[in-house]
Amino acid sequence: MTSSDSAHNAPAKAPAKDPWDLPDVSGLVVGVLGGTGPQGKGLAHRLARAGQKVIIGSRAADRARAAAEELGHGVEGADNAETARRSDVVIVAVPWEGHGATLESLREELTGKLVVDCVNPLGFDKKGAYALKPQEGSAAEQAAALLPGSRVTAAFHHLSAVLLQDPDIDEIDIDVMVLGEERADVEIVQALAGRIPGMRGVFAGRLRNAHQVESLVANLISVNRRYKAHAGLRVTGV
Ligand SMILES: NC(=O)c1ccc[n+]([C@@H]2O[C@H](COP(=O)([O-])OP(=O)(O)OC[C@H]3O[C@@H](n4cnc5c(N)ncnc54)[C@H](OP(=O)(O)O)[C@@H]3O)[C@@H](O)[C@H]2O)c1
Repeated sequence: MTSSDSAHNAPAKAPAKDPWDLPDVSGLVVGVLGGTGPQGKGLAHRLARAGQKVIIGSRAADRARAAAEELGHGVEGADNAETARRSDVVIVAVPWEGHGATLESLREELTGKLVVDCVNPLGFDKKGAYALKPQEGSAAEQAAALLPGSRVTAAFHHLSAVLLQDPDIDEIDIDVMVLGEERADVEIVQALAGRIPGMRGVFAGRLRNAHQVESLVANLISVNRRYKAHAGLRVTGV
């Protein structure tokens, strides 16, 4: 057998997968913990408007139901535990101060779920916003440590809740950095972001790199204050 024969017989190498070939997520139920706040409600509004089934969660079911009714688009409201139980994907949109305790209390309901953490641990003083340094490295890594049975990812940190909630704005001009350990999970979150007109989900590394992404919000807040803006980010070249 000649070398050209063996090259001929070698199994064809599979073509590299197109990183923009993302899964169909239209049938997934998305729950939002803390969905009565500006960020959670804004995300719920955008996803529901794009056709996603969304459940808003709250510590009080009646607050969640009131917020859901306000949004329309088939959004439902429930307490955080029921929201987690009934959802395939669960976005965590509670303040950093309540992050650990909330997730710890929902460990059972969140088992097996794809958790998307968008929490930015920030402090504020006379000089403006600054990044806190969570013991675990980041909010997302704290979530992963507290939820060993869940598939934890991080995304949606750099969005303006004002723009998300504005019904007169059709497109949100931003790239969403998505972090996680499992490619399949990251791609689901990228695909969800991509359902919102103008938005693109871009893989941005493993959870150990979530701290920079969460912290960058302190810089964006500085930009917003100086320029009286709702600044977002684009990753160029991809
Ligand atoms: N606002 C933004 O523009 C923006 C952008 C990107 C990311 N984020 C991140 O998204 C998260 C939510 O932001 P937000 O501005 O919407 O916050 P928020 O209004 O302060 O809180 C969101 C909701 O969380 C619940 N909550 C409040 N304190 C809690 C506690 N101690 N434990 C558990 N739940 C509590 C409340 O809902 P119930 O009382 O109904 O339970 C509240 O409506 C934050 O971690 C923030 O860093 C915000």
